[in-house]
Amino acid sequence: MQGLSSTQKTLPPKYFYDETGSELFEKITRLPEYYPTRTERAIIEKYSEEIAILAQKDFAFIELGSGSSTKTRLLLEAFLRRNEKLHYIPIDISKRILVESAKALLKDYPELRITAMASDYITALNSLKQQNISKKLIAFLGSTIGNFNEKGRIEFLREIRATMNSQDCFLIGIDLIKDPRILEPAYNDSQGVTAKFNLNMLVRINKELDGNFNIGKFRHMAFLNKKMSRIEMHLESTTRQSVKIGKLNHTFEFKKGETIYTEDSCKFSKEQIKEMAKSSGFEMKRSWYDSKNWFSLNLFEPI
Ligand code: AVJ
Repeated sequence: MQGLSSTQKTLPPKYFYDETGSELFEKITRLPEYYPTRTERAIIEKYSEEIAILAQKDFAFIELGSGSSTKTRLLLEAFLRRNEKLHYIPIDISKRILVESAKALLKDYPELRITAMASDYITALNSLKQQNISKKLIAFLGSTIGNFNEKGRIEFLREIRATMNSQDCFLIGIDLIKDPRILEPAYNDSQGVTAKFNLNMLVRINKELDGNFNIGKFRHMAFLNKKMSRIEMHLESTTRQSVKIGKLNHTFEFKKGETIYTEDSCKFSKEQIKEMAKSSGFEMKRSWYDSKNWFSLNLFEPI
């Protein structure tokens, strides 16, 4: 209600991830244009041993936004080579994908103990604080940090910091600034999967909130905002129209060309990442990059 009533209409990206949205995102991660997932995977593949050594032993492994846990398997394997057993705590907003991947992981790695939490990050972090886990490694992969604005991401990182003890560490995957000719196609793929993913937000409102969005009258839009170093995703109304959302008991007016701003995907420089760590109570212990410097994996430690 708040987002759609603002002058610049907005909807928060966490609502992308219902069952369909999570499946569409998995499809995105396999698209030829979408470089982040495979680039991050290559970094993890190359350095998992080193990460496992730095993480030391006998920690609980907490993952924010675990999704299908595909990249995580590489880390789990490296950790299990150095630890006889491991407590893995995946946190994801999508319950179905969480349950499915937890089952698959337990089958493949019987030494694991898994506590899966279907929730948003803040709720999960607060409940973790109460659990008093003695040592933890928190992972936040995929550059989801890019969804926050500057203020939001520092607040969020501080929340994470607040759940940590001095010997814990935080592993965060962050996408780097690069040529727009690489960035823009990653969010405008030729198969139209990202368009479907974006528009699914409206499909979801129709289903869950009794909305009457005419999906054919909205258009996926993703472009680089160079000044802000971010990809912005919007849904553009291709015509003047009214949309009723039954469960809000409200009708929203759209001008032709007006947009709903659905996502920021911020890109960072290596310097900015160090700054980000500092401003939220961390010190950069180590960073790893791919050969093209397209993506970064960073180990933060509390200071
Ligand atoms: C899951 C937030 C990292 O920003 O690249 C992919 C989401 N949006 N294509 C990203 C996304 C459009 C993705 N994150």
